[in-house]
Amino acid sequence: MNPHLPAEADIVERIQESPSVFTLRLRLSDPAARGAYCFAPGQFNMLYLYGVGEVPISIVSDPHDPEHLLHTIRVVGRVTRGMAELQVGERIGLRGPYGRGWPLQQAIGHDVLILTGGLGCAPVVSAINYVTLRRSSFGRLTIIQGVKHADDLLWRDRYAVWADMPDTQVLLSADHGGPVWPWHVGLVTEVFGETHVAPERTLVMMCGPEGMMRASVTALRARGIEEGNIYLSMERNMQCALGHCGHCQYGPAFICRQGPVFAYPEVKALFDVRGF
Ligand SMILES: Cc1cc2nc3c(=O)[nH]c(=O)nc-3n(C[C@H](O)[C@H](O)[C@H](O)COP(=O)(O)OP(=O)(O)OC[C@H]3O[C@@H](n4cnc5c(N)ncnc54)[C@H](O)[C@@H]3O)c2cc1C
Ligand code: FES
Repeated sequence: MNPHLPAEADIVERIQESPSVFTLRLRLSDPAARGAYCFAPGQFNMLYLYGVGEVPISIVSDPHDPEHLLHTIRVVGRVTRGMAELQVGERIGLRGPYGRGWPLQQAIGHDVLILTGGLGCAPVVSAINYVTLRRSSFGRLTIIQGVKHADDLLWRDRYAVWADMPDTQVLLSADHGGPVWPWHVGLVTEVFGETHVAPERTLVMMCGPEGMMRASVTALRARGIEEGNIYLSMERNMQCALGHCGHCQYGPAFICRQGPVFAYPEVKALFDVRGF
């Protein structure tokens, strides 16, 4: 695929996850492009709504099936609002995959803690899916999800399935729980005390609002987890995804090329500067 030009992709399935979140299952229209496409969990595609614009969206499906690419999209503005109108049978532009994904090969044989906050759970869903589909290759799996309000929690059924898997712990929290919220009410970092994490063999993958990630890094460090074993996915507005335009610049790094996944020591200097 030409990295500068979107290829056509067919929408083969559309799932409405919540009033403002939907998932598109995409299949590249050209068989040659389809056969050549491969990706790693944590990478993203640039999806192009014809005549409107292009946005970076994480790939949440598993790399064993690169022919069907799942993208879960939250409606926030002009392009995503337009994409929400697309139906099965219509086409969208797709170029990618871009960026550096999660260190899943490195995580083999380790305990894995996956932490996600707010509405930014799409990038880590790919890592959760990867680990759960290859469960015996990994040690203990801990999944922590924090949301502002109970209504923001997507995929309750999936959390229940993950919680039933062997050697897997799922912890959920909401700042505002509501009457039927059975899990923790409060900040996501408050559930860290309930985990059974062995710091020396745990690798952390997280994404979410930067304030939450900052607080989580402090709490994880206090529990003895090495900085080099903490990975996070960063988000910035993007245009080219090719390291050319500078829109995603984060200090010396371009998030589209060196990220979106970084080891914490790689971003630590800027991460501690609020508002950067
Ligand atoms: C690597 C990467 C992966 C992403 N993966 C997903 C995903 O899987 N699912 C998903 O729903 N979204 C994802 N996003 C965010 C998504 O790209 C933006 O929501 C989208 O570009 C918004 O476009 P829009 O035209 O609909 O909104 P706009 O009209 O451009 O913006 C609406 C509002 O959202 C803000 N905004 C736009 N883009 C971002 C951003 N990247 N970060 C923070 N605020 C932003 C704007 O400042 C504005 O306030 C990802 C972003 C990056 C960088
Ligand atoms: S989006 Fe253009 S340099 Fe990263």
